[in-house]
Amino acid sequence: MRAIVIPVTGGPEVLEWREVPDPRPGRGEVLIEVAASAVNRADVMQRQGRYDPPPGEPPYPGLECSGVVAEVGENVEQFRVGDRVCALLGGGGYAERVTVPWEQVMPVPDGVSLVEAAGLPEAVCTVWSNVFMLGRLRRSETLLVHGGASGIGTMAVQLAKAFGSRVVATAGRADKLERLRELGADEVINYREEDFAEKVRADVILDIVGAKYLSRNLQALRTGGRLIVIGLQGGVKAEIDLRTLLAKRAAVYGTTLRSRPADEKGAIVRGVVGSVWPLVAAGAVRPVVYAEVPMAEAAEAHRMLDSGEHVGKILLVR
Ligand SMILES: NC(=O)c1ccc[n+]([C@@H]2O[C@H](COP(=O)([O-])OP(=O)(O)OC[C@H]3O[C@@H](n4cnc5c(N)ncnc54)[C@H](OP(=O)(O)O)[C@@H]3O)[C@@H](O)[C@H]2O)c1
Repeated sequence: MRAIVIPVTGGPEVLEWREVPDPRPGRGEVLIEVAASAVNRADVMQRQGRYDPPPGEPPYPGLECSGVVAEVGENVEQFRVGDRVCALLGGGGYAERVTVPWEQVMPVPDGVSLVEAAGLPEAVCTVWSNVFMLGRLRRSETLLVHGGASGIGTMAVQLAKAFGSRVVATAGRADKLERLRELGADEVINYREEDFAEKVRADVILDIVGAKYLSRNLQALRTGGRLIVIGLQGGVKAEIDLRTLLAKRAAVYGTTLRSRPADEKGAIVRGVVGSVWPLVAAGAVRPVVYAEVPMAEAAEAHRMLDSGEHVGKILLVR
């Protein structure tokens, strides 16, 4: 098969579409003939040599895909050859075929094309596991989403609205803020012009900035609030006044999805299929697709992501 390989780390130009060995499904695995994948910030970090794939995962980038089941390994009863699926991957989505533990595979939700489905698994599973499973966001509460225009952010805004919560989202450009309003955000903040900590009080904060926002995020939390850090775009080390944490009885969490074992990913995937797919089928939550790029031209898709112009997901289509 062919896949995007990273022969040396560097800029988008290092990505090469090449012949590589075909994967075979092991026990408990499904082989997917890939229709599309999607670009995530983690793929850019992997390309730059700052984020190695976890042990045992394919070396090619790609944390999600959609496609058709081409083969099933021993002990897989949940999927059959020919099923239209999408999957949360530990890597290897930028390829013609990929193997994945069956627990991480989902049917394509109703109302979404096979290609569009490639942009759902990573964003939906990240938001579901952090905002709902860990953060326990309730209907009466407010969610603050940083990086609202990102693949993750556009999903967080839609899902929290669909579950009836109030949503505030940040972004760095007027057109992005406008798009976030269209997606359902109740309030939007241009972080280049205003300090969110002066404007918002939130019960749950989904943060992709990290160190630079830590103390202001704590300031923005309500009593009993939950701050969940999933990205470190603004640095890794910060100091906080622990009195704020105590006084607010607040919690700070940090998580990654990629390194979790298949059974934990499976629990997230089951929650998504049971609770989110009906909302997708009803049209309340949609994949937000910024562009579709041929998979062989992944370098172009990475340039697009690097430029920061996008809102939502950039898909890689075969
Ligand atoms: N821990 C996990 O399990 C996990 C899983 C998936 C993703 N992530 C993380 O989630 C983040 C989003 O991922 P993605 O693939 O969806 O990325 P993406 O689409 O490339 O989006 C990144 C966004 O960050 C925004 N941004 C940068 N600095 C900001 C700031 N100071 N305040 C608010 N927004 C800011 C940019 O928008 P503006 O133009 O508005 O600045 C950009 O759209 C990444 O940091 C990624 O590493 C973590």
